[in-house]
Amino acid sequence: MTTTASTPAYDKSGEPLVRAVNVTKAFHGNQVLKGIDLSVNRGQVVVLLGPSGSGKTTFLRCINQLETIDGGRIWVDGDLMGYVDKGGTLHRLTDKAIAAQRRDIGMCFQRFNLFPHKTVLQNVMEAPTQVKGVSKDQARSRGLELLERVGLKDKPAAYPAQLSGGQQQRVAIARALAMDPKLMLFDEPTSALDPELVGEVLAVMKELAQSGMTMIVVTHEMGFAREVADEVVFMDGGVVVEQGPPDEVIVNPKQQRTKNFLRRMRQEEEQLAAATGHLALADIPLDDTTDDDVTVDPTRAIDDGGPDGAVPPTS
Ligand SMILES: Nc1ncnc2c1ncn2[C@@H]1O[C@H](COP(=O)(O)OP(=O)(O)OP(=O)(O)O)[C@@H](O)[C@H]1O
Ligand SMILES: [Mg+2]
Repeated sequence: MTTTASTPAYDKSGEPLVRAVNVTKAFHGNQVLKGIDLSVNRGQVVVLLGPSGSGKTTFLRCINQLETIDGGRIWVDGDLMGYVDKGGTLHRLTDKAIAAQRRDIGMCFQRFNLFPHKTVLQNVMEAPTQVKGVSKDQARSRGLELLERVGLKDKPAAYPAQLSGGQQQRVAIARALAMDPKLMLFDEPTSALDPELVGEVLAVMKELAQSGMTMIVVTHEMGFAREVADEVVFMDGGVVVEQGPPDEVIVNPKQQRTKNFLRRMRQEEEQLAAATGHLALADIPLDDTTDDDVTVDPTRAIDDGGPDGAVPPTS
């Protein structure tokens, strides 16, 4: 499909919140997305897995219009992202209309990008007051509520530099939630954190998922994926190789490419586990009969590294 093909009629009710159809994207002739199809139902959590360079970040950036797509369609809550369809021909929306679409999508990156010269509360209040015209009083009380929700109720006056990485990432989540997004996109939100800070961020994300937020999460945290994801999507080379419930894709992957990726992840996690005592995928049995270089010690206790035991600290 190209961006000039006709668009089927789209009925919002009962449809997925996110529907991507045959999305393609190239950078200078490098075809990064080769026809991605993905549907995410309302309230669902989808974890995107895949090796470096497989196009995960690019796909998230296409969903929220930080990149324009070359072909295909992406709808969020029934709105065709970035374009208006006039009689089968797509016309690019104005920057203002695109900005309005983007307002409904929250994004959390590996780097938190908080304003360093603003307090935690000012960071959380910034977008609602500046972009949505919410009154300062309203934004403040909502901001304080959100800080409590992410376990930072006694940090409103702190500056980002005074917080740990995990705390900063939780501020970034609160900041995104302050815009009341329909959809949250997370791009490796814990991969820049020290291992001991990962759990507190995953715990906040898990609570968000349980509250019914629709989420697409790029992460290597397999414990989180197994516990929280409704669906796991494995991407490689710009295509979706395999998708399904976490226990199928992570424990019983069907495709060799998925098995190879999980084996590599498992080895990395074993190394990490040896260094930190944090066990994750290394203890999840992988039904991979071709796997001859990984042994799992069945006597080891299973701790899937999920956020279960990790409660966000209140300070
Ligand atoms: N703005 C850009 N200009 C040129 N090439 C880009 C750009 N953004 C991404 N790419 C290329 O697109 C490919 C996919 O990148 P992307 O960041 O989407 O991968 P990823 O799956 O998120 O990888 P990682 O796990 O390392 O974050 C890579 O080859 C990358 O170099
Ligand atoms: Mg990426």
